[in-house]
Amino acid sequence: MNIAILGFGTIGSGVYEIIQHAATDEVKNLHVTHILIRKGKDKTLPIMCDDIQTIFDDPQVDLIVETIGGIEPAHTHIMNAIQAKKHVVTANKAVVAKYLKDFNAAAVNNDVHFYYEASTGGGIPWIQGLEKALRIDAVDCIHGIFNGTSNYILDHMYRYQATFDDVLKDAQHLGYAEADPSADIDGFDISNKIRISASIAYNHPITDQFPIFGIRNILKEDVQFFSSKGFVVKLIAKTKRKGNTYDCIVEPMLFGKNQIEANIQENYNLISLHGDTIGELKFYGQGAGKLATANAVIQDIIDISENKSHRQCSFNNTMQYDSTLCNHDYILRCNPSLQSLFKELEYEPIAHSYFHIKHVEATKMHAILKEILECDPTAFMASIYEEEQSC
Ligand code: HSE
Repeated sequence: MNIAILGFGTIGSGVYEIIQHAATDEVKNLHVTHILIRKGKDKTLPIMCDDIQTIFDDPQVDLIVETIGGIEPAHTHIMNAIQAKKHVVTANKAVVAKYLKDFNAAAVNNDVHFYYEASTGGGIPWIQGLEKALRIDAVDCIHGIFNGTSNYILDHMYRYQATFDDVLKDAQHLGYAEADPSADIDGFDISNKIRISASIAYNHPITDQFPIFGIRNILKEDVQFFSSKGFVVKLIAKTKRKGNTYDCIVEPMLFGKNQIEANIQENYNLISLHGDTIGELKFYGQGAGKLATANAVIQDIIDISENKSHRQCSFNNTMQYDSTLCNHDYILRCNPSLQSLFKELEYEPIAHSYFHIKHVEATKMHAILKEILECDPTAFMASIYEEEQSC
């Protein structure tokens, strides 16, 4: 199988490296014939080119790996590749979250495959696992740690009392963070991943806006305070379904120290689903990083080269967004003078600047936090995980 790689950053170069050092017959069957780099960049390998049309026009190219990232030109390149009858494999969650239904329909119409395992959960075979669960069950809940960078940061702040800024630099150095790490720390990367997962689970493209709050404001003192109360904080994405309605949120969540989520270290992810007959199922592995993510890309390529089709979604189901399905208790840190902004909620002060807010809709709590942040831009909150409220 002849492969063109678009983009030669962390993941693109990882795919090339695994194929060049092929350790199995499956990988030895794969040949990288083109690498698309940006115009003006040095061509350090003879197979590098800067003209995408030569790739589309080459009948020898069977499959295109898109690792450029972002929306454009990735979206146009993927569509053009599919129309040129090339299979496409991508690790790009932003473009998949936005155009999954269109890419899927175009691939079906052109009789090629469009696979995107590496877009969600890095090296974890999560999408295939979810698709397999859906062969038998209606999946009614997905939640988990979907971002390696934020987990790395929170884990190091907890275990080594590190500061946020120092650990973020390490995560960038290790190739975990996005080009603009605000996508990792403000929750946008994880929101794309829950969009993709929920779209597959509900067979409905998730386009609604939902509450997102990241970890930009977390302090070393917050991590220590949560620890003193028996909690470890993690950045979580969650979706719940009830009949034809669904809810999604992204927020920091507090787990008891003995819970599995609390013990996920470094760049690892842990994603859980719930189905009627399978119950709770958890997927664990490296959620970010060059070779782990490239591994997921190559798994898709091998499936295509061996003609193994993945489950087809039409994305034609009708679902309504219902912001009332996710409810939690929260611990909020803010300037105590701002209590009037949440006085209608049931709450109690638990330490100077920290408040325990009782059972509130996530959407409502996020709206209140937005008002608080206008007066105290350093405020932070995390929900408290409750088994019965979750999957
Ligand atoms: N920046 C992402 C993460 C990369 O840290 O999880 C993998 O999607």
